[in-house]
Amino acid sequence: KKVAIIMGGYSSEYKISLTSGNVVFNNIDSSKFTAYRIHIFKEKWVYVDQNDAEFPIDKNDFSVTVDGTKINFDVVFNAIHGTPGEDGLMQAYLELLNIPQTSCDYYQSALTFNKRDMLSVLKPYGIKTATSFYLNLGDKINVEAILEKVGLPCFVKPNKSGSSFGISKVKTTEEFLPAIESAYKEDDEIIIESFLDGIEVSVGVINYKGKVTVLPITEIVSENDFFDYEAKYLGKSQEITPARISEEMKEKIEIVAKRAYEILKMKGFSRSEFIIVDNEPFMLEMNTVPGLTDGSILPQQAQEAGISLPELFENAIELALQ
Ligand code: DAL
Ligand code: MG
Repeated sequence: KKVAIIMGGYSSEYKISLTSGNVVFNNIDSSKFTAYRIHIFKEKWVYVDQNDAEFPIDKNDFSVTVDGTKINFDVVFNAIHGTPGEDGLMQAYLELLNIPQTSCDYYQSALTFNKRDMLSVLKPYGIKTATSFYLNLGDKINVEAILEKVGLPCFVKPNKSGSSFGISKVKTTEEFLPAIESAYKEDDEIIIESFLDGIEVSVGVINYKGKVTVLPITEIVSENDFFDYEAKYLGKSQEITPARISEEMKEKIEIVAKRAYEILKMKGFSRSEFIIVDNEPFMLEMNTVPGLTDGSILPQQAQEAGISLPELFENAIELALQ
């Protein structure tokens, strides 16, 4: 089978995506699949061969012609974090072309990439979330009213983005408007959340061999103020798998994480973030194209569960092809 690994993307996360994509490329069992690296950038969609030569993708059917031979792909491995890989655009495009891909469907992608909408879908099911406030670009900002609702400290986040780009922890009223400005650089919608003072955990849920499977839970201990970009990618955090939480807490989180996956009708990969406050997990978000770099959390969790990277990737491809 010919597997197109799509990587890059149009968001601030493109470099992380290139790393994730290359990890996939280097860990795909070549006795079973022929893998192709496809770079998806605003200015070009190209197949990149082993000599880094580039061949344009024909967007009419997502094919590429190399030395006069046209290649059609059997399946797409999606390694694009952020738009257009994690927000449903590529999913909808590929679905129209009848090309299977490893992520959840376009609607699930769009929904989960929108933190506000995803949390509001889950809330009526009893899944706990932070107290929040939302802004659209152009909305009048009543700082006093917002801070009265969410309190200080609070988090100001772009509503649709990843890897903590544009996120600030706001501790004083003076820091609030600059935080809003920096979040608007990433997205035209903002989510402002109360600070949840507790243990942060990251929970991978995947469909493994036909069964919804919760991977070992990771506890995040950030050296920085929160699990920001530096903490995520530049070593300024400790990620402890399995998390040092009670068996009872572990079971509680597993149930909630699995339930969220099922309520949202997810497929393929997911990694959700929770903060445990007073023995209750509060959900922050769900990532449907989780980082797959060497330092990323989901690969560590898979490893802990005894699933090697080639097994993890083969499973995702087989599932997409079903
Ligand atoms: N958005 C990053 C890649 C993650 O969730 O791992
Ligand atoms: Mg995220």
